[in-house]
Amino acid sequence: MNGKKNIAIVGFGGMGRWHAHMIRRREVCDLIGVYDIRKECMEYAEHKGINTYSSFEEVLADRRVDVVVIATENDMHKPLAIAAMDHGHNVVTEKPVTVSSADLEEMIAASKRNGVIFTTHQNRRWDGDFLSVKKVIADGALGPVFNIESRVHGSRGIPGDWRGKKEHGGGMMLDWGVHLLDQIVNALLPDRKIESVYATMDHVTNAEVDDGFHMIMMLEGGVRVCVEVGTSNFIELPRWYVQGENGTLSTPWDLTQGKIVRCTNWEEKDVVPIKTAAGITKTMAPRTDDTIKEFPIPLIDSDVHDFYRNLVDALDGKANQIVTHEQLLKVMKLMETAFESDRTGSVIRF
Ligand SMILES: NC(=O)c1ccc[n+]([C@@H]2O[C@H](COP(=O)([O-])OP(=O)(O)OC[C@H]3O[C@@H](n4cnc5c(N)ncnc54)[C@H](O)[C@@H]3O)[C@@H](O)[C@H]2O)c1
Repeated sequence: MNGKKNIAIVGFGGMGRWHAHMIRRREVCDLIGVYDIRKECMEYAEHKGINTYSSFEEVLADRRVDVVVIATENDMHKPLAIAAMDHGHNVVTEKPVTVSSADLEEMIAASKRNGVIFTTHQNRRWDGDFLSVKKVIADGALGPVFNIESRVHGSRGIPGDWRGKKEHGGGMMLDWGVHLLDQIVNALLPDRKIESVYATMDHVTNAEVDDGFHMIMMLEGGVRVCVEVGTSNFIELPRWYVQGENGTLSTPWDLTQGKIVRCTNWEEKDVVPIKTAAGITKTMAPRTDDTIKEFPIPLIDSDVHDFYRNLVDALDGKANQIVTHEQLLKVMKLMETAFESDRTGSVIRF
């Protein structure tokens, strides 16, 4: 089986097309065909010169297929993945892997009983902004870190497609939350125990599913993490805001617009107070320039296709899969805990 792998994509909408584009551009896989229940998606594939299957059963029966990539709505990942695994195929699902940890346990069991690889496309572990923040923290550039805020803010409400419907696994926690949580608990601070979770969900544009949320996790060692997704933010907050004992990082998506400010001298002589409505304050006054220094955020090159390179190596027995079942379960349970916290209005021990 060593060498290039044949990939079939099931679900040829936005993300299915992204996978097709990536697979065709890179060296480790071949796109053997695609299948979608929508006729217009099949016509689009044919127009692009991509082989199409006439049914999912035809994908299952094709023994040339090494990996089935599932890029359908979230609620369909589980049945399609289990069927593919039960036919001996390796499987990559899009994120979120599925809509509950109970579903995920069934998928993991299918992978084990069939001896096939099953993983999920957590592609945002390769995002440049994430990798840069990770490096800044790991290098100790801010000193011991005690607060990490990771947020994405939009202003168009939840999309009007299946993402707004509970039956399809909609909602912003499953859509964006899964990425942000995976980054923090599986790649940034994977060894820190999560001690507690408190979350509230937003329903500004949609009553059925969350169109945003705010979540606080306390990690072992006193690190507080705030993860937030918003879709009604007409003024957005920074993508990342990280505080260490010696410095602060703040940046939008574009890291060239962000900065690190480090304290170079804790003692200050001539603090100029600022005026507030009720008087002046020195405590909240900005620091004088001679006691701080600004640094740019280091930019990191990354290639999201490393996901596929790792997949191929894992299939060839040369590497462990990067996105593991344990990691997927951890995030799925974390999201369920966040929903429970919202429902009960309580802080939950994790
Ligand atoms: N990793 C990422 O960055 C990222 C980005 C966007 C979407 N996604 C994920 O990708 C998946 C698809 O999202 P999208 O934006 O492409 O949605 P989409 O609506 O554009 O595409 C989904 C496609 O699946 C097809 N489909 C549904 N049921 C099917 C079935 N039984 N067999 C075959 N095809 C079927 C639909 O007809 C549709 O064309 C979701 O799980 C989403 O969360 C991931």
